[in-house]
Amino acid sequence: MAVTQDQLYAGIDLELSWSERDLPERERTKHVHRLHPYLGKFIPQLVETLLARYVPAGGRVLDPFAGSGTTLVQSLESGHDALGADVAAFNCLLVRVKTARYNEFVLESEIRDALGRFGHVGGQSPDNGYIGRWFAPQAAAELLAFRSLIGDYEHADVLRVVLARAARSARLTTHFDLDFPKEPQAGPYWCHKHKRECRPVERAEHFVRRYALDTLARIKAFARVRARRAEAAILHGDSRELDLGGPFDAVVTSPPYPGLIDYHEQHRYAYELLGLDDRRELEVGAAAAGTSKAAVAAYSDGMVGVLENVRGALRPGAPALIVVNDRRDLYPEILERAGLELHDRLRRHVNRRTGRRAGEFYEDVLIARA
Ligand SMILES: C[S@@+](CC[C@H](N)C(=O)[O-])C[C@H]1O[C@@H](n2cnc3c(N)ncnc32)[C@H](O)[C@@H]1O
Repeated sequence: MAVTQDQLYAGIDLELSWSERDLPERERTKHVHRLHPYLGKFIPQLVETLLARYVPAGGRVLDPFAGSGTTLVQSLESGHDALGADVAAFNCLLVRVKTARYNEFVLESEIRDALGRFGHVGGQSPDNGYIGRWFAPQAAAELLAFRSLIGDYEHADVLRVVLARAARSARLTTHFDLDFPKEPQAGPYWCHKHKRECRPVERAEHFVRRYALDTLARIKAFARVRARRAEAAILHGDSRELDLGGPFDAVVTSPPYPGLIDYHEQHRYAYELLGLDDRRELEVGAAAAGTSKAAVAAYSDGMVGVLENVRGALRPGAPALIVVNDRRDLYPEILERAGLELHDRLRRHVNRRTGRRAGEFYEDVLIARA
């Protein structure tokens, strides 16, 4: 029997559920939200709605799993100061670049100057390590040439994000496995995505140029919509241990899940090219740890550690809004152990765009209070 719209949406918070038509991709990836790909983010409009519902005007917001910075960016748009923390150095770099304030004239001059010099500088040859293996010789030389310029600029971090994005696009991968390619793809291959023979990329320069200008345009677009006075900061470290300061008026976060996404490995090219500090052993629910009973128990302990620390930074009674797909039903116990009380559970319908996984998909927004 066919399921009616009413049955499908029974118990669903419609204000937190969007169809593709309500919310097309260009809205979900507006301004700085698309500075660099990141697997496992939530959509800005969900954060925007939660902030409007639960956070008082001018309230300070905390996200202990900041990821690509969706909570921080939306907080700035909604006029809230915000603090984020993340254990992955590349995520912190990305969040810093998204949330910083810029003198647009200086930023644009630097980007145009770097692009002007790029093409005239020689890059060193790659060694036999990661760069030599994962990039065609010409692409590697171009990336290393651009990298050699970056340190000359005040806005070096913006150029680092451009370099990382170009490197991601220029890796020797197939078109259908951009998220977690296992081995470099050296020659032509049958492409399932395009239904024809495709070839891996051989150059990187065009990506650097395109992404540099796109990044500039996105930073300028965000500057037009962010609140004049709100500021955001990001701490790099383990949210079980960091001094989060406070007091905060709300937490808006989406935690990692046990054994699902490797948050360092997905940006491996950036760690290799930029020499970033890899602290993957501190990830809660690390993909490498798997989903055994012991790994799930360690995940729960890790989440309790983070949420206890977060509770200490929250104003009494302030909400912790946690977006999860808790199919193992771990969160009632996690929250209790962390000293948080579960007040409500909102269910939202998640619009799957790729169609790779069949069936309806839901997630919950847990509303807990200290
Ligand atoms: C689901 S993602 C958050 C995505 C974010 N909501 C967004 O929209 O981009 C979870 C994040 O938690 C981070 N993380 C995992 N363990 C951590 C820890 N112990 N301390 C701080 N961050 C951690 C991961 O690096 C990852 O970026």
